[in-house]
Amino acid sequence: MRDKVTVPVVQARKGGPKLRVVTAYDAPSAQIVERASADIILVGDSLATVVLGYENTLSVTVDVMIYHAAAVARTKPSALLVVDMPWLSYHLSAEETIRNAGRLLREGGAEAVKLEGGRKRLPMIEALLATEIPVMGHLGLTPQSIHTMGGYRVQGKHAEAARELVADARALADAGVFAIVLEGIPDALAQVITQEVRVPTIGIGAGAHCDGQVLVFHDVLGLYDGHQPKFVRQYAHLAAAATEGLQRFFADIQAGTFPSDAESYHLDEQSARAFQSFKGKEE
Ligand code: KIV
Repeated sequence: MRDKVTVPVVQARKGGPKLRVVTAYDAPSAQIVERASADIILVGDSLATVVLGYENTLSVTVDVMIYHAAAVARTKPSALLVVDMPWLSYHLSAEETIRNAGRLLREGGAEAVKLEGGRKRLPMIEALLATEIPVMGHLGLTPQSIHTMGGYRVQGKHAEAARELVADARALADAGVFAIVLEGIPDALAQVITQEVRVPTIGIGAGAHCDGQVLVFHDVLGLYDGHQPKFVRQYAHLAAAATEGLQRFFADIQAGTFPSDAESYHLDEQSARAFQSFKGKEE
């Protein structure tokens, strides 16, 4: 058993050994991630696209996030369990934000929540922190803003946009978030932000200078056939391996070689005799 990774443990990793973060959405994926020694398991709202087949992340609700987070939590990981607040669950009022995040903790087993956006989210972030709910920030290419961004586009490429992102990161860190995900921004900007803020930055498509890296489980293991951004490195090809495995299974069914004798249950001698007389009566 590893030592439990807590929010203070993550905070203390600023500038230290890089944080290893990956998503998981159910018990088997959480167990795989835990065995690989992740520091943080993120139940990301990316589950909308990679697990549930939606076009973007806007369709998932708090109930859906709780359903998946609870499955991950039941595996009791040593990794810190962070759960995404879905779109519209932290935008309407501080009260509703606290209630939704509280449900992610109480019903979903989250140990911290992540939400997207910079200074305009500060009132909600402050409300959560005042309720003792640890918050991870998420800046840059924020997928819940797909329509305002006009698609999934790299952010902070121009001086003014870069300055805004640095100001957002400073404001989030000053407010008390324990870490910030930086997604889809130039590596030089991620480096500046990482130097500027006293909390760990966790990059995805943000270059090598962040304090940690995160990828989506289905992307890094080759389980997802959809579009792959250039920052994804595949370390396994599980979809291809799974298809090949099933093709061999089906070939064995058709050849009559599955199941074998060893894969079948047999009657003991006494039951076999009883079975013979039963068969005789039936015929
Ligand atoms: O939803 C998600 O999986 C995420 C990560 C990609 C950072 O937010």
